Amino acid sequence: MTLTLAACGSGDDGAEASPTKGDDITVGLLLPEKANSRYEKFDYPIIKKKVDALTDGKGKVVYANAEQDAAAQNRQLQKMVDEKVDVLLLDAVDSSAIAAGVKKAKKAGIPVIAYDRLAEGPIDAYISFDNEEVGQVQGRALADRLDGGKGQKIVMMNGAVTDPNAAQFKAAALTELKAKVTIAKSYDTKDWKPANARANMMAAISAIGAGNIAGVYSANDGMAGGVISALKAAGVTKLPPITGQDAELDAVQRILAGDQFMSVYKPYPEEAETAAEVAVARVRGYGIEFDSLTPDKVSSPTDKNVPANLVQVAPLTRTTIESTVIQDGIYTVEEICTAKYRSACSELGIK
Ligand code: GAL
Repeated sequence: MTLTLAACGSGDDGAEASPTKGDDITVGLLLPEKANSRYEKFDYPIIKKKVDALTDGKGKVVYANAEQDAAAQNRQLQKMVDEKVDVLLLDAVDSSAIAAGVKKAKKAGIPVIAYDRLAEGPIDAYISFDNEEVGQVQGRALADRLDGGKGQKIVMMNGAVTDPNAAQFKAAALTELKAKVTIAKSYDTKDWKPANARANMMAAISAIGAGNIAGVYSANDGMAGGVISALKAAGVTKLPPITGQDAELDAVQRILAGDQFMSVYKPYPEEAETAAEVAVARVRGYGIEFDSLTPDKVSSPTDKNVPANLVQVAPLTRTTIESTVIQDGIYTVEEICTAKYRSACSELGIK
């Protein structure tokens, strides 16, 4: 009786509290790249802050960014296993190349939670956005915008083949687009790099002719920047509709200026905070909380029925800037509506 009560006192979800782990939790966080601003600007700081809040300031986040190098990420993971972190949050550069590392961590008794991208190997949970919905939102927006029939040619600029999200974005976008337009060229972009997207777009322009491109499906904002730069270099002044994803500040401004048609807003705080909660609950052995945080199920090529949480996303166009990134405090009006964009902002009533 006394023992049960003592265990109960150690946490707010007391009934299942592990008596061995209190607030001194170390979360190892492995993120994939820096070219896209989300990782350093949102994912890392939000996770850190949430772990801090959940552990009364006593928990720690050890962070490593692989900068698109899958081998480097394997080493970073190994180092965290050697240092005996309590749990890993892993956003894989290459979801299958990291599987051996995931196995090692598991063997060492360290649970691995796949973050944003579904890593292969024995993961404990997967926290991400609804990536199928991302592709649907992009594809549907472009298909609706291009209402000139199947003769219209578009270019598809997809993400990296090492990222399973990229395949989901592409497949879902295709279901929306393929009956309505012609996919004249389609590329998988190495490392998601804007410069690679720019080079592929140059090739598409020479093959199709700049004037014959009715729209571009770009899987994210960084690559949309590369696509726009290629079109401008080819002398295009009236840009076709171009999609994106991530609600990067540059992209929000391009949307204001009319250079980019849309992006997808993914509420980073919700994804990152959920991941921190799941990681801490897992270490503390709070099974009920862990289960309620992971109501969905996903399967990877190696593992079936992984408990998951897939956060909903929203389209970001000129008319939804206010109800998404501004309302959620992602950017302030001052950050978005700089001198160059002030008149577009006031036209839309953003103040
Ligand atoms: C995806 C991620 C996107 C974007 C992209 C490029 O996996 O879901 O938000 O960051 O990678 O890194």
